[in-house]
Amino acid sequence: MSKKRALVTGGSRGIGKAISIMLAKNGYDVLINYRGNIDAANKTKSEIESHGGQCTLLKFDISDFKNTTEIIQKELEENGNIDVLVVNAGIRKDSIFQKMKSEEWDSVIDVNLKSFYYITRPVAEKMFFQKHGKIVVVSSTSGQTGMPGQANYCASKFGIIGAAKSLAVELGRRNINVNIVAPGFIETDMTEDLRENYDELKKQIPLRRIGKPEDIANAVEFLISDKADYIQGQVIAINGGLYT
Ligand SMILES: NC(=O)c1ccc[n+]([C@@H]2O[C@H](COP(=O)([O-])OP(=O)(O)OC[C@H]3O[C@@H](n4cnc5c(N)ncnc54)[C@H](OP(=O)(O)O)[C@@H]3O)[C@@H](O)[C@H]2O)c1
Repeated sequence: MSKKRALVTGGSRGIGKAISIMLAKNGYDVLINYRGNIDAANKTKSEIESHGGQCTLLKFDISDFKNTTEIIQKELEENGNIDVLVVNAGIRKDSIFQKMKSEEWDSVIDVNLKSFYYITRPVAEKMFFQKHGKIVVVSSTSGQTGMPGQANYCASKFGIIGAAKSLAVELGRRNINVNIVAPGFIETDMTEDLRENYDELKKQIPLRRIGKPEDIANAVEFLISDKADYIQGQVIAINGGLYT
């Protein structure tokens, strides 16, 4: 039997890295997409290989429709099925709304929301014919409630939940699970600028700690397992109780 394969966008750093390592430990050949940080990508690949896992790096900007579609299509044609897709890559460019530049609005929507179509459509089509698959989309607490300075990010993270829920309804009859995780504050490069405020932030979190990338990977591990076969179109919040 051929090995199971998983694609993780933004799998080279942070939450995506923890998810990629988890998938490799679960026996998946992991395809890791990243945008440009080759050192981080190589480091993650080496870590996976040192545990005996298989990893292929795919460098492309997920907000580039043509390139993204072509690379994913080629991967599917030449190497076959993708059994698990984790739509994870994202960016934030916070600003209060009156001061938000159109570039800050557009780039966040492009990377976090529009790319959902570019990545997921070809994979979902393949899963539709293979009649199985697990898709997990990484949204955010900012996809569940408004956050100051994040109109662009919230719009993208609410939007991606809507897209994933629709897909869950469409694809369920083909034995394909689509679910969403909504992380709270997680310690990664993305939240580097908040690090000096961590002590203040912790006071707002009932569990009194900032989350780790592995907290998210653990939930994804459950969602891609047989144990979650009857969970469909749901948002699993992993936020230490920050938003209930
Ligand atoms: N950290 C948090 O507190 C938090 C909370 C809620 C939700 N999230 C969401 O969780 C996801 C992962 O966040 P993170 O904190 O792990 O971020 P991170 O540490 O900044 O890592 C981002 C990853 O995404 C990749 N990436 C960014 N833009 C890309 C693009 N245009 N094309 C392809 N790859 C791209 C990066 O590749 P390079 O290394 O090549 O740049 C990197 O692998 C995001 O969707 C984020 O919105 C994070």
